[in-house]
Amino acid sequence: MKNTPNQNIKPLTLNRNSDFCLEIGGCDMQNLAAKFGTPLYIYDEQTIRQIAKDYKNAFNNYPKVNMMYASKAFMVQSVAKLLDSEGFGFDLVSGGEIYTVLSAGLSIEKSVFNGSNKNYDEILLAIENNIGRISVDNFIEMAMVDLAAKSLDKKVNILLRITPGIECHTHEYIQTGHLDSKFGFDLTQIDEAIELINDEYENLVLKGLHAHIGSQIFETKVYYDEIEVLLKEIRRIKDKYDIELSEINIGGGLGIKYNQDDTPPSIYEMADVILKSIEDNTRKYGLEKPLIYIEPGRSIVGTSGVTLYTVGSSKQVPNGRKYVAVDGGMADNPRPSMYQAVYTADKVEEEKCEEKETVTIAGRFCESGDILIKDITLPKLNAGDLLCVYNTGAYGYSMSSNYNRVLKPAAVLVNNGQADIIVERETYEHLVSLDKIPERLNRYE
Ligand code: LLP
Repeated sequence: MKNTPNQNIKPLTLNRNSDFCLEIGGCDMQNLAAKFGTPLYIYDEQTIRQIAKDYKNAFNNYPKVNMMYASKAFMVQSVAKLLDSEGFGFDLVSGGEIYTVLSAGLSIEKSVFNGSNKNYDEILLAIENNIGRISVDNFIEMAMVDLAAKSLDKKVNILLRITPGIECHTHEYIQTGHLDSKFGFDLTQIDEAIELINDEYENLVLKGLHAHIGSQIFETKVYYDEIEVLLKEIRRIKDKYDIELSEINIGGGLGIKYNQDDTPPSIYEMADVILKSIEDNTRKYGLEKPLIYIEPGRSIVGTSGVTLYTVGSSKQVPNGRKYVAVDGGMADNPRPSMYQAVYTADKVEEEKCEEKETVTIAGRFCESGDILIKDITLPKLNAGDLLCVYNTGAYGYSMSSNYNRVLKPAAVLVNNGQADIIVERETYEHLVSLDKIPERLNRYE
């Protein structure tokens, strides 16, 4: 079966050119560093477009699929534009994500508003702008969505986010489908939710069920099981209330290959399992084929992105490790310290037959835990050399911070030899732009 980019460590256009320098999207990384500075997030447009096309092709034979890009993986205006041009809607989880899409001149009418603690203003913003679906997570939110819809004199199409009771083998912080989860209605609470919609909440129109079982998933079987749970519930609801829900949102989660030990399935393998489960379980439960929503995030942008760092100081611990420090770290990529994520990297300019050594790549932040890569064997790194860390496209910039008052890096999008800024590098002025000094503090000068 066809390999898809989430199964590779490197972006599709990554090559070493005749000068032994890495290039991406036809752009020499040394030139990119010289022009835009480091740390620098670089996104390969071809890889993102290829993955988006693979998602669409994989579901070609099933006409009722809505692709929603999970914005939390990386959302800036250009990414919204790019995925909109590939026919994707958006999984949005905050007013900020909604605003980013709207401010890029796009509509949210095909998109889903998710999240376990949306506030009233965010709900209003979504409804005012005709959000496609709101996935209602809990009873309090259900009342708020109805109230907001009433105040705008609109009806809102909703899904109910449920906890399907499926465990997947991924880091516990990114599991979401197991029963003891903060997300969604427990299966035993669905009936009460439906009765409230039927009897009290006149502005809500229930379209279907939503679940998301976790992230960085390698086993396709969990999707089979998840769909079975959703369709079984739809059957049960039909029998009890005589309503046939016509939509299921199965969330995101497909894994990517961060290092040699990772073995994610291809998008085609995942789609086959999803479609088989739809086929088997609609037959088993005597249901119409539903409209499917799917919300991939990491697998769309993860592999396309790399981070370029400049090497600074280094330290050889006597009889111990050698630490090589780079000019970024946990503030631009918190994943190694949060989830023990294992990344891989290459030296950007490699001499032929260069001597190799095993080093630990340390970040610049004031935390012992700020280690980007433990024990990696690379050609000798000296101050000023460039290092390219792979697979940083998802949950890097989107989870970045200004820890230690360090400026957030820029991001560029590369394609066919062209590199364009999609997020500017922060400046010291940006950094203090929201600071305020109360007048009384000036009196003590
Ligand atoms: N849909 C819902 C409802 C979600 O909660 C998520 C991710 C997705 C879709 C997209 O999942 P993906 O395809 O990206 O796996 N910060 C963590 C990942 C947190 C994922 C949260 N929800 C990390 O860096 O690993």
